Amino acid sequence: MKLFVILLVCAFAISSSFASDPSPLQDICVAIKEPKDAVFVNGKFCKNPNLTVADDFFFQGLNIPQSTDNKVRSLITGVDVNKMPGLNTLGVSVARIDFAPNGVNPPHFHPRSSEILMCMEGELYVGFVLSNAFENRFITKVLKPGDLFAFPLGMIHFQLNIGKTPAVAFASFGSQNPGLITVGNAVFGANPPIGPEVLIKAFQLDKKTIDYLQSQLWFNNRI
Ligand SMILES: *[C@@H]1O[C@H](CO)[C@@H](O)[C@H](O)[C@H]1NC(C)=O
Repeated sequence: MKLFVILLVCAFAISSSFASDPSPLQDICVAIKEPKDAVFVNGKFCKNPNLTVADDFFFQGLNIPQSTDNKVRSLITGVDVNKMPGLNTLGVSVARIDFAPNGVNPPHFHPRSSEILMCMEGELYVGFVLSNAFENRFITKVLKPGDLFAFPLGMIHFQLNIGKTPAVAFASFGSQNPGLITVGNAVFGANPPIGPEVLIKAFQLDKKTIDYLQSQLWFNNRI
């Protein structure tokens, strides 16, 4: 009996030391007092399962190439919980990425998910950068059809089509809503703009260059 109590106490101590709040499922979730203004409960409200239909778990058309006629010459077609409601609480989602020749999916990261990407067509130069603790070591590879590459959670990564033909890749995520932060867009296209004095110092560039960068249209290549 004594042993049992000790084990119970130990088990409780261990489990409580691992307990933490659940991970966020969206960028922000500000607390409010009035439920009438509420939109999320860490993710989405749940439909009564009795009312669920197959279409909640269905999405069509990811085989269709999307137009890459934009500044970066690439387009991400994401299928997350916002497009497939049945993904709510399931912790998975996917994306298709189209690339024109020389098209780039610019340096970005996903705040809520790692990624595994499969090259389906074309030739992609891909890579991610480790954190400051590892002196920002760059991990890179060239992918051909059938090749897979993993991008760890939170690491800045990119893909560039280095082939002469269009390229296509499919990506899987361990989140219903992995999120997307494109570095250039977030830093130089912030709305309202970040004070230039911050960027001049941070990037060791002159005022003219920062003004130029902040005046660009930072295209969001995800639909
Ligand atoms: C779903 O349907 C079952 C069987 O008709 C019923 O017992 C149950 O209460 C329903 N659940 C909800 C949440 O409506």
